[in-house]
Amino acid sequence: MLYSHLSDADRYIHETRDQAFLSLLERHGIVSLAELRVLELGCGDGALIRSLAHYGAGLSQVNGIDIDQARASSAHAAYSPAAIAAGDASHLPYRDASFDLALAFTSFSSMTDEAVRTRAATEALRVLRPGGLLVVYDFRMNPTNPVTRPLREADLRDLFGRHVAIERVTLAPPIVRVLGGRLVLCRPLERIPWLRTHLLATVTKESQ
Ligand SMILES: C[S@@+](CC[C@H](N)C(=O)[O-])C[C@H]1O[C@@H](n2cnc3c(N)ncnc32)[C@H](O)[C@@H]1O
Repeated sequence: MLYSHLSDADRYIHETRDQAFLSLLERHGIVSLAELRVLELGCGDGALIRSLAHYGAGLSQVNGIDIDQARASSAHAAYSPAAIAAGDASHLPYRDASFDLALAFTSFSSMTDEAVRTRAATEALRVLRPGGLLVVYDFRMNPTNPVTRPLREADLRDLFGRHVAIERVTLAPPIVRVLGGRLVLCRPLERIPWLRTHLLATVTKESQ
């Protein structure tokens, strides 16, 4: 099982995130990841790349980039033939229009500098083909981690303009942990929008 190495609570958080992500792709007409050229910005040690492979992405079509050399090396070692680079998302080493799908999962919140965020947003759209999709998943509040900066709805609109589509997802992780990730308890609470701490946003390149 994909997330069997996680606690029940973290498994719940990841599985509900993935359900929201896959359903968003489906709404955009993407029912298979197999042929897509995918770029993950801020791929870390490749946890999301692992999930993408599980959901059918072809690793030889997947690229990842992370500013942290050690994390990029670890992703490179674990997920070859995915092409992983150490580098800055605000200066992407890829040609214009070379990807169908760009993903930024909890990476904009790690870019605390506004100018870096803005350039990374511009770069993500530059490397997408016309009609390609950028999907951002990030937390809109996080009182406990001082080295990150939440990505709020207003930040997304500043970065991508009014065409960005935003939904709130993910029941607050501290609540999920208290409830031990039990579906019967978490699901009803997840219906309450203000208890959802993360945003799932999409920008279609043509809409810019
Ligand atoms: C919280 S981790 C998310 C990792 C991965 N996306 C995931 O979901 O498992 C955020 C990552 O963004 C990376 N990062 C921060 N600023 C970056 C930048 N300017 N360019 C590329 N990566 C960056 C960090 O090194 C870190 O690995």
